[in-house]
Amino acid sequence: MHNFGYRSGHYCVENVPVHEISESCATPFYCYSRTAIETAYDAYANAFSKHDTLICYAVKANSNQAVISILAARGSGADVVSEGELRRALLAGIPASKIVYSGVAKTVPEIEFALNNDILLFNVESEPELQQINSVAVRLGKIARIAFRINPDIDAGTHEKISTGKSENKFGIPWQAARAAYADAAKLPGIEVRGIDIHIGSQIMKLGPFEQAFERIADLVGQLRADGHTITSIDLGGGLGINYNTESDLAPTAEQYAALVLKHLGRLDCRLIFEPGRSIVGNSGVLVSQVIYVKHGSKSTFLIIDAAMNDFLRPSMYNAYHHIVGEKDSGGEDVLYDVVGPVCETGDTFARSRKLGKQEAGDLVIVEGAGAYGAVMASTYNTRRLVPEVLVEKDGFRIVRPRPDYDSIIGMDTP
Ligand code: LLP
Repeated sequence: MHNFGYRSGHYCVENVPVHEISESCATPFYCYSRTAIETAYDAYANAFSKHDTLICYAVKANSNQAVISILAARGSGADVVSEGELRRALLAGIPASKIVYSGVAKTVPEIEFALNNDILLFNVESEPELQQINSVAVRLGKIARIAFRINPDIDAGTHEKISTGKSENKFGIPWQAARAAYADAAKLPGIEVRGIDIHIGSQIMKLGPFEQAFERIADLVGQLRADGHTITSIDLGGGLGINYNTESDLAPTAEQYAALVLKHLGRLDCRLIFEPGRSIVGNSGVLVSQVIYVKHGSKSTFLIIDAAMNDFLRPSMYNAYHHIVGEKDSGGEDVLYDVVGPVCETGDTFARSRKLGKQEAGDLVIVEGAGAYGAVMASTYNTRRLVPEVLVEKDGFRIVRPRPDYDSIIGMDTP
């Protein structure tokens, strides 16, 4: 992780030691680096600079207004999957003309809101959804620009819970049914077909599955054009993996990915749309937590920290590996810990038998690679207050989402 690491023995985000942040924002908190977000976005933008490209940041990965605004200022568009995300993207300054709307279950109010805001494209995932979008568009006197999301039946080789491009997954139109779907769409008065879309999964660590998908899409574009459809955009979704474990992971770079895309699809005279989420924000953020107790069990030593599965779900939900380090540089003198949170479930475990510098109650520990699918998946389970978020910008930091007080959580209920 660039922009994260030790300086004079203390863990810093850009130029700011996290222990200084913890004096004004109690732990646990997420901490993002503006420079890291910008650098990751620029890697995509530069890799595709010679082609007509729109990068639509997948807002679901991290939807904090500060994060979306940073990307909006860079020229990014947005991929959204709900009215809430669409509202977030618009409020953060992303123009509607750069917003694509994905997801299998767009409801009538959501479709209305998107049409009234004149978004760029709907990525349509089924025939019933096509009909619904058409009827809302006709009722409002509007034309909905669409692409069909195609399910190419390709195994992305990723965790089963985040694989989306296999025939048994709920996503997209089976590729064998694509031509019929486009033919139906061409007859609808409220629909204008613009393109084609895929997204085969997330945290994809090899280029092979992407290549298979690109070949299938290139074939389909040829067939659809031969059928008389105008295809001017190809949306390749997101999914590029990142290195969570620097010792064993080796994700393709944005440049390698771009070279493959352009090799297969560069000659089709289409605008290319991408929906990266994790590869922009994943390694741009960490979760900072404090050790509450060190507990010596009969089989292992538990490092009980104040962050829990409700704050960061990835380890318990996907058995995800996240690097964990102490705030003070241990100089390599490590101890084995089971790193666990306070929630009353054994699943509330961040890591087992993990080597980490010797810790004491009150010390800070940092869970790395937590910028994507971290804060956005947090909940108030166990009536724990929602975890706050902090943004570091070079020498300074600001709290970009404070921790709510108890009244605002409990007060939502009606006794
Ligand atoms: N586009 C669509 C239509 C998606 O469904 C997703 C992610 C993306 C783009 C962005 O994919 P990315 O570039 O971030 O891989 N919570 C899980 C990940 C779920 C991904 C869902 N879809 C996790 O923590 O691993």
